[in-house]
Amino acid sequence: MIDAARKAAKGLARDFGEIGELQVSKKGPADFVSAADIKAEQVLFEALEKARPGYSFLGEERGLIEGTDKSHRWIVDPLDGTTNFLHAIPHFAVNIALEREGTIVAAVTYNPITHDTYWAEKGKGAFLGNEKRLRVAARTKMDEALLGTGVPFIGKPGHGQFLKELHQITQRVSGVRRFGAAALDLAWVAAGRLDAFWERGLQPWDTAAGLLLITESGGKVTNLDGGDYQFGDEGILAANLELHPLVLEKLQAAG
Ligand code: IPD
Ligand code: CA
Ligand code: CA
Repeated sequence: MIDAARKAAKGLARDFGEIGELQVSKKGPADFVSAADIKAEQVLFEALEKARPGYSFLGEERGLIEGTDKSHRWIVDPLDGTTNFLHAIPHFAVNIALEREGTIVAAVTYNPITHDTYWAEKGKGAFLGNEKRLRVAARTKMDEALLGTGVPFIGKPGHGQFLKELHQITQRVSGVRRFGAAALDLAWVAAGRLDAFWERGLQPWDTAAGLLLITESGGKVTNLDGGDYQFGDEGILAANLELHPLVLEKLQAAG
């Protein structure tokens, strides 16, 4: 999975180098970015299929491709953080998870620019690169916590709801960040950089790898009702065990 991510990332990093030029051209980089995105998914599909022939594949661009092996499924976002990429902001990721019988058992979130490789295997822990074991942050107080979130944008529902949630949260915490790549937000909770992260409207390919990174680093992931997070749930909240209920309470207070 790491090899596949790095292979796709190489192409993305190369394409990213051209964005600066395209930004100032009249045509703009949008078509170029969507081609880069599709190309990266193709590279991932081929590499993963070669490594494990027959596994099913759910990718953001191609949707579900059923394999002969229905008990295994790759869940892939070739480029998470497209808007950052499009604006020449070097914060995006290749995101791959492996699901076995409905459970995520392996995860890789790879930043093609910093080369940070966040990975986890069920029951074996979560890591950054070869050595660093990931642990969620130990901070337990809201007033010390730094939270990540996703801000809805044009075409998305829930703008009013988001403002209500923000109102509940901002007055109680040390800060709120919107970095623009949900896969990296989740990896950063696993790495203890962010203390919590919540967002509505995410898709399986945004969250699948993060779910395992968070649980294997000692954190908790639920939906915004406090139940186990399932694909298709409207919202997600990830945090350490102590902060999780405190943040959830404030999000729920938003109504
Ligand atoms: C998006 C990013 C972003 C989140 C959006 C996602 P994409 O994924 O993860 O942070 O706020 O909801 O759709 O489109 O860049 O793959
Ligand atoms: Ca995404
Ligand atoms: Ca994407």
